[in-house]
Amino acid sequence: MTNKIRYFIANWKMYGDLRSLKTLNKVIKFTRSNRNKRFRIIYCPPFTLLSSFSKILKKSKINVGAQNIHEDLNFGPHTGFINSRMVKSLGVNYVILGHSENRVLGETNIKINKKVLSALKSKLNVILCIGETLYEKRKKFTKKILKKQLVQCLKGVNKKTKIIIAYEPVWSIGTGIVPNNVELENNINFIKSLIKRKFKNHIILYGGSVNPKNIEKINQLNLLDGYLIGGASQNSKKLIDIVKKTFN
Ligand code: 13P
Repeated sequence: MTNKIRYFIANWKMYGDLRSLKTLNKVIKFTRSNRNKRFRIIYCPPFTLLSSFSKILKKSKINVGAQNIHEDLNFGPHTGFINSRMVKSLGVNYVILGHSENRVLGETNIKINKKVLSALKSKLNVILCIGETLYEKRKKFTKKILKKQLVQCLKGVNKKTKIIIAYEPVWSIGTGIVPNNVELENNINFIKSLIKRKFKNHIILYGGSVNPKNIEKINQLNLLDGYLIGGASQNSKKLIDIVKKTFN
């Protein structure tokens, strides 16, 4: 176990309402009593809860992120959307961009790139999701896809930017299936080799069916800076377990 900071990013997707706020107490307590450990928890709840999360977590070391933004930096006629400035004004410091659940709805790399640039202008830290579908994996297109996503989504980003990449194979999200460590190592090393050419300050996460049962096996890799966690992150006990097992 190296001394690097580990990130645990909780993507709540379209789950949670005001009753969910009470689950935060346990995690706040856990974070307080483990100040000596080098980890960072970032909650990404739905838009409706950003403001409440931000207020509750203000005095803790836990950060808050949004799950998406519109690319337009200004106010505008975009029904149903919010932009990076609006998110930032709530005390939010991160944003997930390029999630496959949004790519499948038509978000292209070009559009994601505009969102990345807009987020950075508003001083949000970008968590960029990349990953291949099952079809692309079977066709052995994985590396080609990952490279294209990285190059196009990060076009024009200043090389001094701290960039967070979440490798999320689409076939692993919500399925309980995790790539084996050889495959994961191969793909993570590939991503690192590309990203480090331009960005010195990079953080590489894995996401897809991470839970307390499989975390120790994934941790054996010792290549990752942390995890982007969906389903398991809504349960504070499971989230804490994942953090604890990473530091065992
Ligand atoms: P699951 O952990 O539920 O598979 O979701 C992963 C994910 O999509 C996080 O962004």
